[in-house]
Amino acid sequence: MTRPALADWLSQTNDVTQVFLAAGQIPDLINMAGGLPDPALWPVDQIAGLTDRIIRDHPAQALGYSPIEGLPELRDAIAARFSRPGLALRRDNVLITTGGMQALDLLGKVLLNPGGIIAAQSPTYLGALDAWRPRAPSYRPMHLGANGFDPLAALQGAQFAYTVPNFSNPTGRLVPVGERQALLDAARGTGTWLVEDDPYGTLCYDGPPLPRILDLAATGGAYDGPVIYLGTLSKELAPGFRIGWVIAAPRMIAALTTAKQGSDMCTSGLCQMIALRAFQTGLTEQILPRVLDTYRQRRDALCAAMDRHLAPFLDWQIPQGGMFVWATARDPRLDTDRLLRAALDHGVCITPGSTFDPMGQDRRSVRINFTLNPQDRLAEGTRRLAKAIASTLADGQTASSISP
Ligand SMILES: Cc1ncc(COP(=O)(O)O)c(C=O)c1O
Repeated sequence: MTRPALADWLSQTNDVTQVFLAAGQIPDLINMAGGLPDPALWPVDQIAGLTDRIIRDHPAQALGYSPIEGLPELRDAIAARFSRPGLALRRDNVLITTGGMQALDLLGKVLLNPGGIIAAQSPTYLGALDAWRPRAPSYRPMHLGANGFDPLAALQGAQFAYTVPNFSNPTGRLVPVGERQALLDAARGTGTWLVEDDPYGTLCYDGPPLPRILDLAATGGAYDGPVIYLGTLSKELAPGFRIGWVIAAPRMIAALTTAKQGSDMCTSGLCQMIALRAFQTGLTEQILPRVLDTYRQRRDALCAAMDRHLAPFLDWQIPQGGMFVWATARDPRLDTDRLLRAALDHGVCITPGSTFDPMGQDRRSVRINFTLNPQDRLAEGTRRLAKAIASTLADGQTASSISP
């Protein structure tokens, strides 16, 4: 008896995922692959205290089902937090999601028919590609900042455009204000939705934050613009709460709410209450200086170690924020998919560029995380990576000298 086949999209995933899953078993592996915060920076005692009080004082809200759109008080708090002069956000501009990932998934559900076009900042966040893969979209890569990039042409006919303007995942790039404005103008000119995904906006190490595209979209009255802004508590507090939010025009929030009903019905009430109290008590602001100091030092330590060990092999730019350095091979013969396997043999894990390319064709870049590990482990991981690169290049030369 044969069972029905699984859906086609499952066979279209990148096999690097399998390599990552296997990597979890390697002893003493230095993981510089994920986008993970350092658990040592989480304010565990304060969170434990908040959680205890919330469950005792508000058991029905914390342990019952919540409204699909999210707890009204949390929606109001987020609307107030993101409102600016000229940008009047209200409760019906806000949907609470189960992490930023759910927002990406819901957007795929409400905006994409098979073959629908996504104009995506290139390279593109791996989780977004994963979320939209079952919808079989077509990708139109947006090389923001490249000579000749034309936002109007990129957005024309697309269902939506997707960008991570603050310290992008994977490149760490901070999209300048002029480029943000140009994307917004193109969204307005074409009528296309513009998704601004912003998990890293608070992780800003070298200067004040730039205005969000959402801020630039302010028109004075109640918000009804083309920007769909995605936020999350994952990098600001901790990812385990799975609290994210969408800020958008009320009709987009209504559509996403319909999709959320069929997805998980509601986000955990307990976690929403914790998020609300964390905002109300200023917990997120209190922990930020230490988080920024620690991550800034780690970024500097990684880049110094890369200068020492990786300069002959890779080019990169120092990111001004976020969690990643994006580095590109100087020698086109360095295949970074193969490098991942060699890196694991040397006890270090990085993410190859192919995972951020909808076509899986980028074999020259790697993403290196600097937030999870202390400075000495980052230095050791970089040394291991240099050895892995040297061995990958040497293997490639041997292979090409024996093949015709
Ligand atoms: C660009 C981007 N968007 C969304 C997410 C999803 O975050 P979460 O689901 O933890 O809120 C991440 C996580 O790393 C990310 O890098």
